[in-house]
Amino acid sequence: MTWSHVDNKWPTDGLSFGADYNPEQWDRSVWREDMKLMLEAGVNLVSLGIFSWGLLEVADGEYDWTWFDEIVDLLEENGIAIDLATPTAAPPGWLLHAHPEMLVVDHDGVKHWPGARLGWCPSSPVFREHSLRIVRALADRYGARDHVVMWHVSNELGGGNGHCYCDVSAAAFRRWLRDKYTSLDALNAAWNSAFWGHTYRDFEHVLPPRGNDSKNPSLVLDFDRFSSDELLQQYLAERTVLKEIAPGLPVTTNFMVGAEQDAVDYPRWSPYMDILANDHYTRSSDPLPQQDVAFSGDRMRALTTDRRPWMLLEHSTSAVNWQPRNRAKRAGEAVRNSLSHVAHGADGILFFQWRASRGGAEQFHSAMVPHAGRDTVVFAAVKELGAHLRALAPVQGSRVRQARAAILFDDEAGWAVQKGVKPNNELSYGRPLRDWHRALWERNIGVDVVSPWDDFSGYDTLIAANLFVVSDQNAARIAHFAESGGTLIVTPNSGIVDTDNQVRLGGYPGAFREVLGAWSEEIHPLQVDERFTLDTGWTGTDWTEHVHADSADVLARYVGGSLDGAPAVTSRTFPSGGRAIYVSAGLDSGSVAALARSVVPSIGEPDLPGDVEMLVRESDTEAFTFFINHGSADVSVPGTGVEMLTDTDIVDFLDVPGGTVRVLRRPRT
Ligand code: GLA
Repeated sequence: MTWSHVDNKWPTDGLSFGADYNPEQWDRSVWREDMKLMLEAGVNLVSLGIFSWGLLEVADGEYDWTWFDEIVDLLEENGIAIDLATPTAAPPGWLLHAHPEMLVVDHDGVKHWPGARLGWCPSSPVFREHSLRIVRALADRYGARDHVVMWHVSNELGGGNGHCYCDVSAAAFRRWLRDKYTSLDALNAAWNSAFWGHTYRDFEHVLPPRGNDSKNPSLVLDFDRFSSDELLQQYLAERTVLKEIAPGLPVTTNFMVGAEQDAVDYPRWSPYMDILANDHYTRSSDPLPQQDVAFSGDRMRALTTDRRPWMLLEHSTSAVNWQPRNRAKRAGEAVRNSLSHVAHGADGILFFQWRASRGGAEQFHSAMVPHAGRDTVVFAAVKELGAHLRALAPVQGSRVRQARAAILFDDEAGWAVQKGVKPNNELSYGRPLRDWHRALWERNIGVDVVSPWDDFSGYDTLIAANLFVVSDQNAARIAHFAESGGTLIVTPNSGIVDTDNQVRLGGYPGAFREVLGAWSEEIHPLQVDERFTLDTGWTGTDWTEHVHADSADVLARYVGGSLDGAPAVTSRTFPSGGRAIYVSAGLDSGSVAALARSVVPSIGEPDLPGDVEMLVRESDTEAFTFFINHGSADVSVPGTGVEMLTDTDIVDFLDVPGGTVRVLRRPRT
């Protein structure tokens, strides 16, 4: 059971199934029961040791491996593979006590107390030294164990230490800036720092954007980039040690890829992951959590150029514990979400965590084994899922079929949208992306959520929503997409600034003005209670613009208000048949869906009954069609093949009971 880069073998036989395993909280009799229940559920992989540093290195350079040896042996005896974590997310108390200078300082200058995790400064040399020492010790001891099949570096890097504003970070930021700009003149030009007389005369005068006083958006964006890079350096330093000791094992870290930007710039990190891994939690307040699952999967899949399968390292069997009110999942929801992740390209489904804690910070977070124990709805669902994943083993390694549409996602654009002073400072980055995704997802039009530097060939539709920052080169590639026959849709707040976060002059959206054949002279943000209506009946909030349609047709105009009669949605057609559509107003999600129906017509996507989502994964020889019934009504869908979860031959029609998933296997035609 060893992994090799040469044959790219997945770390488990078939799909992976399991959880974060934190046995250190329990005595040995519970460990023995854990093994029994893991086998009963079909668990074949656990992430081990994520927060164990303080129990492994009990004092400076003094190790206690006894309990860890025992648990590794026990897992091995039971044939359960180990995703071994470097425990660097949670430094031990003795280390924080000896070196309080490694604690994160927030943007108000407040040093964080020990007591949580990820409380270390990513630029701290003391942390780096100690963390690499435990990584080396761990890898030396366990890197050659047969059942250690992959490395899990730290945990959700950036989750607690996305930004640190201490003096060590400030010095590191200045080094990063010297590397990037070489000269002060270049930095001053990029930051337009002459405004307010802020021209820098010495790199030593540059500070992180501390407090609310630092408002230069170019500086703030560079600090965000620097912060992501500093965390990446920590990941890479750990990875280098692991590769030196166990070169054959894949290395990853768990991302938090969802519909909003993160402190970490995941697409720029993904080339350094042997297996892409994600943690995904739905929100209690989300009216459509199943679409959030789809969005994150559509993004994960597209983080590699060859759309490789990825692994879901964490999600929840039921409620989480970190929201104001934590909704318990409905019957069938955890199984359906899990299989939906598989449909979107995941080859492994793991949870946080195996057994619900009695005490500690996460005592009311759901787990595979709940507080109430084995005879519960949750554990029954876990067993059901285990059986389904075993039945789906042949799916492992197949790829989700090429999507028709691509939505551009860029963390840098997200950072820039959310920070700095803007015409409307209350907009989320991800909202419009999710609206456009939803408009296509509901019609079973395949979508990849891609980066602006990706290859767009293979798509017929490209959506740039809230793509506030864009480079000249990527803007040209996006324009070329429309000029050469694709349908390009540009929504408000896209292409406004260059990569220095400076406005592109001559009318918005500067980067796309030419390809759109339309431009806007002024942004007219709406107040909270204001709405607009267009002559097509479409409605919206938040954002309007004074647009001129020079060489574009007008698809919709304002009715009433200060922009009465002015264009709101325009379309330019190219001789190639390509189109560039400018949606300059903040349309409601229903209106986005209506517009999408007219500009992205269906081309043979099945019109399935009810709330059925359909995705196809393909190997060289077979196709696996997933039908995910998000509704409560039983439906029947067209299809022929072998249904894998019930092992039934299907001719012409397949029944998909309410709330369930069915997967049809058939040879590729
Ligand atoms: C994150 C962490 C886990 C756990 C879960 C709870 O994903 O990585 O350790 O805290 O949140 O939802």
